[in-house]
Amino acid sequence: MTYTETGASTFVAQCLDGLQGTALEVGSLRNTSDAARLSDGWTTLTMAEWAKATDSAVITVDIRNREAQLARVLGADLMRRVTHRVGDAWAIVAGLDRLPVFAYLDGPNDADWHLLVAKRLHGTKRIAFDDANEHDLGPKAATAVPWLEANGYRRTIFDGRHICLEYNP
Ligand SMILES: C[S@@+](CC[C@H](N)C(=O)[O-])C[C@H]1O[C@@H](n2cnc3c(N)ncnc32)[C@H](O)[C@@H]1O
Repeated sequence: MTYTETGASTFVAQCLDGLQGTALEVGSLRNTSDAARLSDGWTTLTMAEWAKATDSAVITVDIRNREAQLARVLGADLMRRVTHRVGDAWAIVAGLDRLPVFAYLDGPNDADWHLLVAKRLHGTKRIAFDDANEHDLGPKAATAVPWLEANGYRRTIFDGRHICLEYNP
């Protein structure tokens, strides 16, 4: 598999290693310009490549409509594996009829919002957060990670900027 090389994309590839099924991303690839190239994680592309390689699927959710950008970056081949949902991810996650095998939570800088999303995703094999490290869980994971750890999850992968927990009750 080849993945676009950013810290986030390498991390998400590690989180997906060995999994097959449906992965969920909260916060879709934003901008395809050269200027934004290094600030975006390009995790949607990483997840789409994983889905193609493993006969899996991706649901990516964003409150803004990024369909045109996603189509331009991913292309028709990878887009076939990706369902793009537009709206508040909390409402969309609450309406899922089954849990994903992996969730990458890279939405708003709102810890309580991410806690609500994480609670709804309880039982998902791996859940990962952006902007978190072992010492500072950051603006997204601050309350969700302690709650997950009290409810069957343990930290498995962290690279100083992201953290992944695995369900191992
Ligand atoms: C950092 S970007 C995602 C980057 C992407 N994961 C990547 O690596 O390229 C965060 C995204 O979260 C979206 N967002 C903010 N609040 C949201 C919400 N309540 N529900 C869904 N998406 C939201 C923003 O529109 C923004 O595109």
